Amino acid sequence: MKVLILPDRAAAIARVAEIIVAQVSCAPASVLGLATGGTMLPVYAHLREAHRGGLSLARITSFNLDEYVGLPPDHPASYHCYMRENLFDGTDADAARIHLPRGDAPDPQQEADRYEAKIEAVGGIDLQLLGIGRNGHIGFNEPTSSLGSRTRVKTLTEDTRMANLRFFDDEAQVPQFAITMGIQTILSARHCLLLATGRKKAAAVRGMVEGPVSAFCPASALQMHPRATVVLDPDAAEALTLRNYYDHIHPGGRSRLYSELHRG
Ligand code: GLP
Repeated sequence: MKVLILPDRAAAIARVAEIIVAQVSCAPASVLGLATGGTMLPVYAHLREAHRGGLSLARITSFNLDEYVGLPPDHPASYHCYMRENLFDGTDADAARIHLPRGDAPDPQQEADRYEAKIEAVGGIDLQLLGIGRNGHIGFNEPTSSLGSRTRVKTLTEDTRMANLRFFDDEAQVPQFAITMGIQTILSARHCLLLATGRKKAAAVRGMVEGPVSAFCPASALQMHPRATVVLDPDAAEALTLRNYYDHIHPGGRSRLYSELHRG
């Protein structure tokens, strides 16, 4: 796991955007796994800016991590709506290659199976963007999610429902269930890129990076991934025991190559 601690929140966001832009520039037909949540809003603002500066999204294929069960794509709190408003509208992304699970599918589990099969059919995800919940969830894989899980329906914890209440009119509107890529679906991506900012994420970040690999902290499964990059601001990195070590390896969150350090 590569842990990059940037000097501040804005720099952490910019670093993540830079990695995504580099991916799409080098491989315009990349398959991107995309995330939602407040943390990603400024990342998508950077991508829209990059698009205005000439970056084309026309050939990408995308798969979002999750969607609330019961919400149709035009519901303002749906992740379909979030992605259109915050990233895709006004870009040249091809709507036919943008994928999110349908929250309003008559049979949500069948929809989850169809979604998983679609990811496989395009050859898997090149770069999976991730946020982290305060309880260590990734996607909507709540604590005790099987580390071997694939896309399926999950019951949301009350903590997660309350954390997302701000996107709904009132508590009763916050869905109880979501369709989410499973932990194993996420681990199948060729590169996982997780962004966490703010003190509220510090405990979850510690569990993910330094805790035991455990279904109790689903993000800790990333320790098993051969190419996982975790980008943090100082607040989110606050509880890390080996923080100085991560700083030493990647000062200021920049990658340093072993070969450069040991020249001559
Ligand atoms: C939701 C999403 C996650 C996201 C998490 C954190 O639960 N399903 O993908 O990582 O929220 O959201 P925020 O960035 O708003 O803290």
